[in-house]
Amino acid sequence: MTANSEASKRSDSSDPIAPLHVAIIMDGNGRWAQTRGLDVSEGHHAGFENLRRVVADFAKRGVSYLTLYAFSTENWDRPESEVNGILELAIAVIAHEAQQLNENGVRIKHLGRVDRISPELRDELEQAVTITASNTGLTLGIAFDYGGRAEITNAARQMIADGVSANDVDESKVAEYLYTADMPDVDLLIRTGGDFRISNFLLWQTAYSEFYSSEILWPDFFGEHIDKAFESFSERQRRFGKRA
Ligand code: IPE
Ligand code: IPE
Ligand code: MG
Repeated sequence: MTANSEASKRSDSSDPIAPLHVAIIMDGNGRWAQTRGLDVSEGHHAGFENLRRVVADFAKRGVSYLTLYAFSTENWDRPESEVNGILELAIAVIAHEAQQLNENGVRIKHLGRVDRISPELRDELEQAVTITASNTGLTLGIAFDYGGRAEITNAARQMIADGVSANDVDESKVAEYLYTADMPDVDLLIRTGGDFRISNFLLWQTAYSEFYSSEILWPDFFGEHIDKAFESFSERQRRFGKRA
């Protein structure tokens, strides 16, 4: 069974079910630092610490795919010192966590461009993806230098480069060319930090996602806050355009 048919089978069930694929826009690190009179780098540090804290928690709740928005194609426009700090943190966290994640059966995927990130981060990501490739537990998508528009544009370019004929371009063909090729659509999209926007995240894969916005800033989003997001999801009636 493909991941997408698995998702639709689960969504047909009348029992409250855990979302198969959760995606998170981890927003609010800057405000978290600001309210404490700290430098923004401290906010990002706290954000990466929270990421380490919550991954196992999502797996325990029955989530099979967790995709985390860590750095967007637009985030390069932030001050150079902030960008470099985020790159360094990402390298350190992956270097530190990959082995443990591997032991826990987590399969790591990188979603995003690889041509602009530092060689050190590219190496860490590649290594983490390679060592965990055959794991069968939680699939952890790390969206770094990710943009939904860039992803779709890249898919179009790749299809043309591969000589795919116009007649063969349908929705499943496009999906095959996305960074998320073997992942199901997103069931639950969480945004922390209180905003209600998608900020160029998973434009294709969130077509019928349930959206949950939390006021809580990302470094503080764990435990009961995750419970609330799941509770909210379990109360949604998903119709996918059909008559209920
Ligand atoms: C999200 O936190 C992390 C990244 C975008 C890398 P922000 O840094 O955007 O936090 P706020 O929105 O300024 O509070
Ligand atoms: C979205 O947050 C990107 C990440 C969380 C990585 P932003 O802070 O960049 O989004 P905007 O600027 O508020 O839309
Ligand atoms: Mg932000």
